[in-house]
Amino acid sequence: MTTVIAIANHKGGVGKTTTALMLAHTAVAGGKRVLVIDHDAQGGVALRILGNRDPDGHTLADIYARTPGVTLAGATHTTRRPGLDIVPSGRGKLAAALQALGGVAPGKVLHKALDTVRDNYDLVIIDCDRGLSLGTINALYSADRVLLVTEPENDSFNGISDTGELVDEINEDLRPSRPLPDPDILINLRDTTRTATHGRVATEIRDWATQSGYTVHPHDIPRRAFIAEAAANGQGLDELRDIAAVTVRDSFHELLTTLTAERT
Ligand SMILES: Nc1ncnc2c1ncn2[C@@H]1O[C@H](COP(=O)(O)OP(=O)(O)OP(=O)(O)O)[C@@H](O)[C@H]1O
Ligand SMILES: [Mg+2]
Repeated sequence: MTTVIAIANHKGGVGKTTTALMLAHTAVAGGKRVLVIDHDAQGGVALRILGNRDPDGHTLADIYARTPGVTLAGATHTTRRPGLDIVPSGRGKLAAALQALGGVAPGKVLHKALDTVRDNYDLVIIDCDRGLSLGTINALYSADRVLLVTEPENDSFNGISDTGELVDEINEDLRPSRPLPDPDILINLRDTTRTATHGRVATEIRDWATQSGYTVHPHDIPRRAFIAEAAANGQGLDELRDIAAVTVRDSFHELLTTLTAERT
């Protein structure tokens, strides 16, 4: 069965796209067929994976613009890595298309479009933009699971709390018959030189999550140059020679197992 995971946080720059890419590569390394949808008008998934910010062909913007004859499969681009496909955002055109959607109930467009590709993939990862935007609402409407990525910093913690509330609202207002399960949380960018603040906020996040019914991944992802480099070059941690990558790779593998497990 295909799992559609939306990766979100109201706060920007916390590692949503990095996590989307690391999870995607991890799944592909495990033999899964994966589609990454760049749901961010500023997004750089195409740049990072294809080395081209605006590749030729259709994009997610065409799906929301309901460009005649374009399906999500038709907006899908293959990558150098067999098993890993992407849908580029279309950047400014995505923002315009979402604005123009007007009266159409949020999410219906992407949710319906996903039906044309579900059978082709084991996993679909939607990389959301920052904010509680129309884009994020659409992505959350279409997803089966939500992963909230946060830094162990107060403003980022506030961001996942805001996005968690948005998930509750979407469940109540837009998808009462098929509510999203409580989000999972990944603490990223844990800095070993900032033990006091990062240790305290990480503990606060775990306490809050326990009360809210959310699941925090047990292993925080450290701030490491090789993770930033891999993400910038569209590489998976399994493709790195750096021995330090092994532990982080295992952690993403464990997270993927959690996110794709049956959950009610
Ligand atoms: N664990 C990490 N270690 C080192 N650098 C990281 C890590 N996670 C993310 N980064 C770096 O932090 C920056 C922000 O990451 P990223 O673009 O993934 O965040 P984002 O939440 O998707 O941002 P936006 O809200 O702009 O979409 C990037 O330069 C990325 O390389
Ligand atoms: Mg991003």
